[in-house]
Amino acid sequence: MADESTTVVTRAPILSPALRAKILELTPRYPNKRAVTLPALHLVLEHLRCVPLQAMAEIAEVLEITPAEVHDTMSFYGFFPQAPIGDVRVWICRSLSCMLRGGDELLDHARGHLGIEPGETTPDGAITLEFAECLGVCDFAPAAVADDGRVFGPLDERKVEEMMAELKRGRKDPAS
Ligand code: FES
Repeated sequence: MADESTTVVTRAPILSPALRAKILELTPRYPNKRAVTLPALHLVLEHLRCVPLQAMAEIAEVLEITPAEVHDTMSFYGFFPQAPIGDVRVWICRSLSCMLRGGDELLDHARGHLGIEPGETTPDGAITLEFAECLGVCDFAPAAVADDGRVFGPLDERKVEEMMAELKRGRKDPAS
């Protein structure tokens, strides 16, 4: 009978060689490899649409730091989901300027319109809905920002629905 205590589980790497190379290409711009952790997390999120535990460990390996150090950075920001997010992630602001102009109600409207809660993704994988504290675009309150850089606002219920229809058509062309 096999001795289970000696079983070694090897997993295929999550980070492709090209992605590992991209992370390493960042290192000359920073004072040390640890300082590359945050931009590396952004790169991985952009490519995988999430940062699972194995990716965290692989980032640590590439940067020659511990997985705990990567986890510390990741959990501090609360920005990096471990499960895949939708094609487009959108944050609706509920901080003061937006709240005073109906941000909470618009978030409720978006939840009802999409049939999902903040932090969830539509069943077709198109949109992940989030709420956010100030997005830095208070001039557009009540506002929302997509993770491809699009800013929406001032929003009302009709514009929230138009925004969702636009987001369902996919990410903004990076060249535009
Ligand atoms: S308070 Fe909503 S963008 Fe600043």
